[in-house]
Amino acid sequence: MGGKDLISIRDLAREEIEELFELTDKMDKRLASDSKPLKNAVIATLFFEPSTRTRFSFQSAAARLGADVLSLEDISTTSAAKGETFIDTIRTMDGYCDLIVIRHKLEGSARLAADVAERPVVNAGDGGNQHPTQTLIDLYSIRRFKKRIEKTNVCLVGDLKYARTMRSLLYGLGMFGANVTLVSPKGLEMDKAVISEVKSRFSASVSETNAMDFSDCDVLYVCRIQKERFADPYEAEKVQKEFRITGENLKGAKPEMVILHPLPKIDEIAPEVDASPNARYFEQAKFGVPIRMAVIMKLLGKA
Ligand code: CP
Repeated sequence: MGGKDLISIRDLAREEIEELFELTDKMDKRLASDSKPLKNAVIATLFFEPSTRTRFSFQSAAARLGADVLSLEDISTTSAAKGETFIDTIRTMDGYCDLIVIRHKLEGSARLAADVAERPVVNAGDGGNQHPTQTLIDLYSIRRFKKRIEKTNVCLVGDLKYARTMRSLLYGLGMFGANVTLVSPKGLEMDKAVISEVKSRFSASVSETNAMDFSDCDVLYVCRIQKERFADPYEAEKVQKEFRITGENLKGAKPEMVILHPLPKIDEIAPEVDASPNARYFEQAKFGVPIRMAVIMKLLGKA
């Protein structure tokens, strides 16, 4: 990996991601190995925003590699509650660990942390901006389930305006030559600048629609409406009720179509779809551990 940090999926070239996937395959095979290559390392997971998968899979990855973890999950228990600045908190934690994983609601916060920290910083989600390790999990899942990413027809469905996973993923899919269709409720479309960037940088095939027609789709990637980023939560609930993936929507879909989701899901996927063998999102979430083991090993120069 080129730089010392992983802040955006833009930090990685395709060859580096492919190398990470090879390392992930190895990590997946040695999850319960007795060898602990990071026995003397300390990893700080600083979560200023809630998380289940990202925090616990980073912590699980660290434990599998033998590293100790310093975990921030409730800022009211830190000196931030006394008014200490974000920068001073990062500078302090930088002195206590070998690698920092950070999630924060403000876009650009991970980049700021990387600017002040000497240790490598991994962005575990900064507002609606980027979530690069989630994108690695998503691309890896497509590669595992469909055997290739190139020329795979992928529909990204849901809140494409506020979901950071979708922005990062669109970039990654463009880089790997997938054909992408963006499906969102009116007003929650993908940022045009991101679409233009992906098209011009990778000559990517990206189209937009409001129609729930998945007949040509190989991978249906769904995300929830990001209620916490709406000024009016009632508006978010209304949109969520109107925009659901149901068995009716999937009539005519390919039988082998794979449904992915970064999770958490709320009620954007109907129970009959959730129960179908096409829904593979818990397997996808499980890949979070070997992917994050690979990222940690690379950033600490151990692979
Ligand atoms: N996919 C994801 O980022 O999940 P969490 O918010 O639970 O970490």
